[in-house]
Amino acid sequence: MLAKLKEGDFDVFALVMKELERQRNGLELIPSENIPSLAVLEALSSFPHNKYSEGYPGKRYYGGNEVIDEIENLAIERAKKLFGAEHVNVQPYSGSPANQAVFRALLNKGDAFMGLELSHGGHITHGLKINFSGTDYNAVPYRVRKDNELLDYDEIESLAKQHNPKMILCGYTAYTRVIDFRRFREIADSVGAKLFVDMSHFAGLVAGGAYPSPVPYADIVMTTTHKTLRGPRGAMILCRQEFSEKIDKAIFPGLQGGPHENAIAAKAVCFAEAMKPGFKDYARQIITNAKALAKAVEMRLVSGGTDSHLLLADLEQKITGKDAELLLEKNGIYVNKNTVPYDQRKPWDPSGIRFGTPTLTSRGMKEKDMQEVGSLMNRAMKGENVRKDVQDLCSGFPIYPEV
Ligand SMILES: Cc1ncc(COP(=O)(O)O)c(C=O)c1O
Repeated sequence: MLAKLKEGDFDVFALVMKELERQRNGLELIPSENIPSLAVLEALSSFPHNKYSEGYPGKRYYGGNEVIDEIENLAIERAKKLFGAEHVNVQPYSGSPANQAVFRALLNKGDAFMGLELSHGGHITHGLKINFSGTDYNAVPYRVRKDNELLDYDEIESLAKQHNPKMILCGYTAYTRVIDFRRFREIADSVGAKLFVDMSHFAGLVAGGAYPSPVPYADIVMTTTHKTLRGPRGAMILCRQEFSEKIDKAIFPGLQGGPHENAIAAKAVCFAEAMKPGFKDYARQIITNAKALAKAVEMRLVSGGTDSHLLLADLEQKITGKDAELLLEKNGIYVNKNTVPYDQRKPWDPSGIRFGTPTLTSRGMKEKDMQEVGSLMNRAMKGENVRKDVQDLCSGFPIYPEV
């Protein structure tokens, strides 16, 4: 693998191998990252890349798409089966444009929608003032409770009654607990709103049966394919049949041009992998590992722990999130600075860090390894140099040993 790159452009080859070494020698705890299989990466760098195929299977604006249609239809059928969806669009380039397409399909400019405030765990595309979702639409933010840092469904219901949103959005970037999709459905129905779930973070857990599926409750579900789902960078939109035309038109020609069929081929590979029995064990192990890590770290965890793949620690002003991220990074431990609910600090230097277990679980780590990871984090946070111990732990869990 990469032999031609090495021959043709040594500078780029050397850099991509340097990045692989960084990944191999470090503990990647950023919960939105993962290590897809080499089969996914091979599909991603393969020949459908060369083809233009604007449109959809059977209705393309270019000739020569008969094989591309087969690839896209295979990805669609696998995704439908994996999540029990009525309709799937596998063309979104990534999560942010996919979210934009959903907004365009469901709302008119200026319409009200509800999403979790960014500093409480929402994504920038869920209503941040300087994002399209905040500039083009009337974002009504909801928050978690101050006392237990959990979603407050009664408060969400009363906000919905007050603002009459056309859409309610749930599914987040930094919320560690299970979401009650049935309750969200009831709230949406009570005000005639559509329910949109962004399951980007936990889609792999849903696929593996380790986290409740939003598909039976939501009108539209969006997910990235590269987080817990362990596929290529990209996204897809799942919806009820009645929204299929609006979603497809919002993606193409509404927002995107030619679909990346190489990425779609890689998505198809990842969906098949997620249907294998081993993926259920993987999804369960991600959560078991996150719970074990929660026990091992000496930090105050927002909401007291996790039901998913991720943890959010409030550093309680002992150190800022930015400094903690840097301190851990120096030791080869990768987390990201993050706001905590009701944070007094700003997002570029907030009070917390966010971390999780998808990548380490892909490497084969189990609960006892999480105890060690937690202990390494604790020691690093106290200023100890643990770089060597991190490297020793990593060497027992190789990444892409074939390369
Ligand atoms: C909940 C959620 N939605 C959407 C996105 C956006 O995905 P992308 O980075 O692929 O645009 C993210 C990315 O972190 C996310 O966490």
